[in-house]
Amino acid sequence: MTHSYRFPADFHWGAATSAYQIEGSPLADGAGPSIWERFAHTPGMMANGDTGDVACDHYRRYKDDVQLMRALGLQGYRFSIAWARVLPEGAGRINQKGLDFYSRLVDELLQNGIEPNVTLFHWDLPAALDDRGGWLNRDIANWFAEYASVVYKALDDRVKRWSTLNEPWVVTDGGYLHGALAPGHRSLYEAPIAAHNLMRASGAGIQAYRAIGKHEIGVVFNIEPKYPASGSPDDLAATRRAQAYMNEQFADPALLGSYPPELKDVFGPAWPDFPEDDFKLTRQPVDFVGINYYTRAVVRNDPNHYPLRAAPVRQPNKTYTETGWEVYEQGLTDTLTWFKQRYGDIPLYITENGSAFYDPPVAEGDVLDDPLRTNYLRKHLKAIHRAIEAGVNLKGYYAWSLMDNLEWSLGFSKRFGLYHVDFATQKRTPKATAKFYAKVIETNGAVLDE
Ligand code: BGC
Repeated sequence: MTHSYRFPADFHWGAATSAYQIEGSPLADGAGPSIWERFAHTPGMMANGDTGDVACDHYRRYKDDVQLMRALGLQGYRFSIAWARVLPEGAGRINQKGLDFYSRLVDELLQNGIEPNVTLFHWDLPAALDDRGGWLNRDIANWFAEYASVVYKALDDRVKRWSTLNEPWVVTDGGYLHGALAPGHRSLYEAPIAAHNLMRASGAGIQAYRAIGKHEIGVVFNIEPKYPASGSPDDLAATRRAQAYMNEQFADPALLGSYPPELKDVFGPAWPDFPEDDFKLTRQPVDFVGINYYTRAVVRNDPNHYPLRAAPVRQPNKTYTETGWEVYEQGLTDTLTWFKQRYGDIPLYITENGSAFYDPPVAEGDVLDDPLRTNYLRKHLKAIHRAIEAGVNLKGYYAWSLMDNLEWSLGFSKRFGLYHVDFATQKRTPKATAKFYAKVIETNGAVLDE
């Protein structure tokens, strides 16, 4: 029997990026430094000494980049705003020129028939706020609401879909627990506090939106489903810890107003007693949730693995991407159905999904075939279709990423783009995956039947 992969008529097709990863010119026009500016300029933190100083030079080439989106037929573009462009000290003084950049970008998108989808925080905290404790300072909920309100007032007349945070788990795991990402701390004691304040800030940002905004707001989580390596009680318990730590630590306070009990076990004496009242702030009604999905983990018990006491198990005969992630599309279907079952029937978007594979350098006139990436995309689009058939209210899909960009501390070494970027010349070349995705959009998925 043939299957039809046609998507609902109002399904929304997009692509995503984030500010520090593509913009370049991080200090232009009066912007303040962010923690990523500092981190990238600290010797030894970034692969090959790469920085976001130029990145994709999108700050200056944004009009050309909107034409790349148009060539794909994108209906939506998800990008983030650099907080320190708008408020160089993180709070207080507004830098109008920084705000104007995003206003011009929004206008350019709309003139080209592309809906802007704005994320307020994609990891580039103003350095001035980090100096005041950053995510460890409870005041950050107010700082974030203040910043968010400035942006809502400037753009909500044209922007209809907002998110407070991108992937708070990565901010705390990479930034506060293991130190591989800015601000580079390594503290079991700080990580849960940073996580909690992120969710308080998200709640405060949503609250502020209800007073000013007229459209939709949500929050974006990375969900990586955990599967036990065996049926042993130890492996099952390890899987629960991993699931609670990575996936539920953020979605639970936002959507259920509590934390899963396993977190106390994971963090031990470092797990604080949070004031009960805080959950009134974290649990704000959302219009949608964005899910970023890349891979799964198969988990076994491992007492030496700090602090989770759980370790991932590599799967034989499976394809792994350049970032070491197993290609496992069923995990995306499972994630969507799990999310609905645990949190209720909330409208969902896949706000990121994509893969880094090696791409050869491209010369003039070259066709860039990237079959592994195309295959990844094809399989994951089929996986979301299965979730829709199973009754998940999935409204849209954003591919990560529009173009190759700065993969954080891995620098430019990992390429996720639909467009190849030559970082020496800034030349963009569509990969075969871009052409395939354009066909998906044009046929609303029917091309997947072939
Ligand atoms: C982030 C992106 C990142 C991507 C690939 C997500 O964790 O939101 O900024 O580039 O995954 O690692």
